[in-house]
Amino acid sequence: MSPIRKVAVIGAGGTIGTSITSALVAAPDDFDVTIITRPESSATFSFPADKVPVIRTDYTIPALTAALHGQDAVVSAVGVAGIPKQKDMMDAAEAAGVGLFVLSDFGYGPEHRHLPDFDAIGKPRQDVLSYAKDKAARSNGQFSWSAIAIGNPIDWALKKFPTLGFDVVNRKATIYDSGTERFTGTTLAGIAQAVVGVLKCHDEVANRHLHVRSVETCQNDLLAAFEEVTGHKWPVTHDTTDNLLQRGREKRARGESGWVLDLIVAQLLEEGTDRRSIVVAQDKADNDILGMPHEDVPGMVKRIMMSV
Ligand SMILES: NC(=O)c1ccc[n+]([C@@H]2O[C@H](COP(=O)([O-])OP(=O)(O)OC[C@H]3O[C@@H](n4cnc5c(N)ncnc54)[C@H](OP(=O)(O)O)[C@@H]3O)[C@@H](O)[C@H]2O)c1
Repeated sequence: MSPIRKVAVIGAGGTIGTSITSALVAAPDDFDVTIITRPESSATFSFPADKVPVIRTDYTIPALTAALHGQDAVVSAVGVAGIPKQKDMMDAAEAAGVGLFVLSDFGYGPEHRHLPDFDAIGKPRQDVLSYAKDKAARSNGQFSWSAIAIGNPIDWALKKFPTLGFDVVNRKATIYDSGTERFTGTTLAGIAQAVVGVLKCHDEVANRHLHVRSVETCQNDLLAAFEEVTGHKWPVTHDTTDNLLQRGREKRARGESGWVLDLIVAQLLEEGTDRRSIVVAQDKADNDILGMPHEDVPGMVKRIMMSV
């Protein structure tokens, strides 16, 4: 496949999509970016319209095919509701002659042994991945896909979700179990860099589920970093992942929101077996091929606190 220059981003205004789009737009020597958005979208984009065109279109296959005509690659960063729609998006991409479709994955990887509670949520993702694999296999090299497992989107999650153990506004912590369970995470900037890397070296990484990481850490390391950066001890409450799991399941049974986050954090920090925690070993990560840096925990924590 020839070098990728023209890139269409779908879901560009979302949590992950904003970061990816900014990184692509910041590299005008490498990429021409077009944003694809739904007619009913309330997303707004701050890029100059003459530099980053926005195509507002229905997500039917014919309309998307027309919108994607002339693009070299599609990067999908659609949220959960848009995941199944990626089959139509891939059909349109293939019909428009687009050679690479980067799936909206940014999860924990297909081999992750998630809690059974997530089976139903994970199913559409698996279907879309199978669809991409089949399409690539039948395309005689004309169509390829990539997906990137990032583990925990760590800087965003630490800032947004005190359930993860750190209330960065009120500077207090909740440590689950012993706080020593290790996990890896990828910053929003790291995720964007990984996508840039996929676009730049697509021939080497096509049709693969890549795994990346910015940091490896545990709650105790993070607490030490937060205390070091803020210059004082944080009040600590102790809890268990068993309790968190139970609270999440009770919320789910009552039809309340928030259960997904409780269960994600419980499975991330669950101690002992490394069964569900996500640790992408440094020597197994695809960082190097994607040109993606490893970051240090104190530096990441400092940036989080400066943005609070
Ligand atoms: N590993 C983790 O813990 C983690 C955490 C967060 C996200 N993620 C993953 O990252 C990806 C992006 O998530 P996000 O949180 O950034 O997404 P998001 O902010 O919820 O949504 C991103 C965009 O998706 C588009 N969209 C929404 N509903 C749609 C629909 N029904 N059909 C088509 N498009 C739709 C919208 O774009 P327009 O309005 O422009 O059309 C929206 O701005 C997902 O795969 C998500 O599962 C993983």
